[in-house]
Amino acid sequence: MSTQKAIVLHGVKAPLVLAEVPIPAIGHEEALVRIKAAALNRRDWWIQQGQYAGLTFPIVLGSDGAGVVERVGSGGHNHWVGREVVINPSIGWGDAEAHQGKSFHILGLPQDGTFAEFVRVPVANLHQKPAHLSFEEAAALPLGGLTAYRALFSRAGLKSSDQVLVVGAGGGVATFALQWALHAGATVYVTSSSATKIEKAVALGAAGGALYTDKDWAQQLQEQAGGFDIIVDSALGEGVGHYPDLANPGGRIVFFGGTAGNIPALNARKLFWKQLSLLGTTMGSPADFAAMLAFVNQHRAVPVVHATYPLEEAETALRRMDRSVQFGKIVLTVT
Ligand SMILES: NC(=O)c1ccc[n+]([C@@H]2O[C@H](COP(=O)([O-])OP(=O)(O)OC[C@H]3O[C@@H](n4cnc5c(N)ncnc54)[C@H](OP(=O)(O)O)[C@@H]3O)[C@@H](O)[C@H]2O)c1
Repeated sequence: MSTQKAIVLHGVKAPLVLAEVPIPAIGHEEALVRIKAAALNRRDWWIQQGQYAGLTFPIVLGSDGAGVVERVGSGGHNHWVGREVVINPSIGWGDAEAHQGKSFHILGLPQDGTFAEFVRVPVANLHQKPAHLSFEEAAALPLGGLTAYRALFSRAGLKSSDQVLVVGAGGGVATFALQWALHAGATVYVTSSSATKIEKAVALGAAGGALYTDKDWAQQLQEQAGGFDIIVDSALGEGVGHYPDLANPGGRIVFFGGTAGNIPALNARKLFWKQLSLLGTTMGSPADFAAMLAFVNQHRAVPVVHATYPLEEAETALRRMDRSVQFGKIVLTVT
């Protein structure tokens, strides 16, 4: 067998289509993983919309995947064959913990990704699948779980005594941020555009929340919570203007996305008077990924899966992200 089923994107705003494509050849220090489940990220949506750097077509999208190692290339890693794995999509991070290096890239562009029966990845990016998770749950973890882990722990230095605000709690990464902060013992509040999503966050353990679509959302949060030691944000936009007020002295504000555009205004004087830290973060290092998995195993954490679709229905699944109706991850199963 030399061909496989894969979901291919042929150009900007084209639909994802099922195709028969060659199974990738693997080289030195690489592995071929038979995908059991993959998951969608906002990145896949941005790429389809043409709003991502380094576009190249045709491309098999997909950064998140879990499966079974089919074979390995030269390099003496035969012990991986037949093992159940989850894939770290951060490829070529480099030597520095503080930032990714020049050859860093994310699985699923420019290299073909996980929306296929097989994916080629470096052996170094294989990790044992947490035993308490199904393939679908494990596939939901990698990109979002890693980004949330690095944001909270490696960058913002989360402690159990911290009070945390997770902005836009329905987001794929944000839901992980909520879960990780709760497992770490922190008190967590959320914002969302949806009262139902706030209810879901509270059901997971959040202490409260506010609709960011309300004019006085920041005041509502201040009344509920007082202030926040950590604010986790993937939106940017006008809301950021409230963070210097919402942050406690010594607070850390950590950004990893810009869904709502740039920051129009900020009362920067409060930044220095309150000794605040503005932090940027992207994905995570190999050490972050290993630490995230250890954390998941320790707390027997289970990702929130919003919906599951067969691989063949990837286009329908991606359309579910058009209006951000999801709470948690959308997963594709491969049979
Ligand atoms: N730097 C990195 O490593 C990295 C990693 C992953 C993602 N990202 C980026 O981060 C962003 C979020 O990614 P994701 O995968 O979590 O996406 P997602 O699942 O699509 O979540 C986006 C969420 O943002 C919230 N949101 C939208 N507009 C908002 C606003 N004006 N104010 C506050 N919240 C708002 C919404 O939350 P509600 O539904 O609750 O309203 C929405 O569900 C994307 O731009 C993505 O490209 C970056």
